[in-house]
Amino acid sequence: MSSKVIVTIFGASGDLAKRKLYPSLFRLYKSGNLSEHFAVIGTARRPWSKEYFESVVVESITDLADSPQQAQEFASHFYYQSHDVNDTEHYIALRDLQNSLDEKYQTEHNKVFFLSMAPQFFGTIAKHLKSEGIVDGQGFERLIVEKPFGTDLETASQLNKELEETFDEEQIFRIDHYLGKEMIQNIFAIRFGNLIFDNLWNRDFIDNIQITFAERLGVEERGGYYDHSGALRDMVQNHTLQLLSLLAMDKPATFTKDAIRAEKIKVFEQLHNPTDDELKKFFIRGQYRSGTIEGKKDISYRSEPNVYPESTTETYASGTFFVDSDRFRGVPFFFRTGKRLTQKGTMVNVVFKQTDSIFGHSLQPNVLTIYIQPNEGFSLSINGKEVGEKFSIAPISFDYETDATATGASPEPYEKLIFDVLNNDSTNYSHWHEVRASWQLIDRIEKLWAENGAPLYEYKSGSMGPTASDDLLAEYGAEWVWKPEPKN
Ligand code: BG6
Repeated sequence: MSSKVIVTIFGASGDLAKRKLYPSLFRLYKSGNLSEHFAVIGTARRPWSKEYFESVVVESITDLADSPQQAQEFASHFYYQSHDVNDTEHYIALRDLQNSLDEKYQTEHNKVFFLSMAPQFFGTIAKHLKSEGIVDGQGFERLIVEKPFGTDLETASQLNKELEETFDEEQIFRIDHYLGKEMIQNIFAIRFGNLIFDNLWNRDFIDNIQITFAERLGVEERGGYYDHSGALRDMVQNHTLQLLSLLAMDKPATFTKDAIRAEKIKVFEQLHNPTDDELKKFFIRGQYRSGTIEGKKDISYRSEPNVYPESTTETYASGTFFVDSDRFRGVPFFFRTGKRLTQKGTMVNVVFKQTDSIFGHSLQPNVLTIYIQPNEGFSLSINGKEVGEKFSIAPISFDYETDATATGASPEPYEKLIFDVLNNDSTNYSHWHEVRASWQLIDRIEKLWAENGAPLYEYKSGSMGPTASDDLLAEYGAEWVWKPEPKN
């Protein structure tokens, strides 16, 4: 059924809106999830006309539309309101526009607000939405908030407090776009739809779990933001810990948002709080230097535009998390994430314990690999007999690639995530309790690093990061399963 709704986007002239939001809304329109009864209000500082805004929208969906008429018909639902977030008058104009569009498109007062701009304005916007009667308790009213949700526990708590003055937790959808990715959502199916994994997914059978978010790119044009953020805030506080929670959670009683959220929150609250010594031992950081990949020279992080020349911001973070639950107590969850690594690859390797060998030599452990991107699929390695008169054992791998990998047709995460908001499904969004618990732990690492309590390792662009990350695993007799060859 198609939704009746007005979507208001704050930050409508921004890159995210053009690259992700308009194409995702268009796909929802094409699939009939949005049809006649919807309108989009775009706001930003620039004084755009409706015509110009429509042309921006049309341009962003040209490749997706069946015909120019279809693109134009879709874009006709878009309205623009230039907006200064601090100016009360502008909210009044916004309210009037919303009311007239509600009448025109018969949207039954349903509203979604998308905050896709500098986070320091989120609180101000939420406050005005209420005080100027844009949020008026009629129809459904939902708020989508882009990351970053704060830069530490204090700022995140402050932001949450401000949002909660206008919206309840149930109405707030904190985006983590990784939760919209196919293979991350597939973790539920793999874990809870298969007896073999359902039964083995615990400390008795799993030796360690490895999470890799490797990026080939550097900071590109985002140096100004990134230099104040670093890999830990940019990738670990949110994406890594969200992924970890899906891997570590207990089986929910039912496949429903409330049951899933309750189990995920438990994991966040059971994250092991390291002692000061553990903190120094468990987490390492690095920063890329120049390097050559496939004959192309990449510059060092400190030479990137808008980066402080003596910056100590980490572009690589790696570490060991533990979850103090009955299921996983003592099992290391290793992670690594970095820019300018050997190649792009996001994956999870679940390394099972070794069985007692009767063959006179040790065996390779079984490994379940979940490929998240750029390939999507999974593989399971098991031991088998090599063909021949002799009895010798070798690992065999069962590989599965989703059709989407072959066709490149995997749905855009934002499309699925906006669809969820229209259906009031926050399963794939971060709850405040999750965000709060993650900052509690991340703040401690940030503090140690800010005080220079741990070395900042250099690594060559095109490598897989500092070797100190290998040492984290060696401590537990493990090694990274994925070791891509550098391409100089
Ligand atoms: C974002 C980070 O959240 O995720 C970026 O801010 C990072 O620094 C990006 O590059 C990676 O996302 P994806 O979907 O391209 O893997």
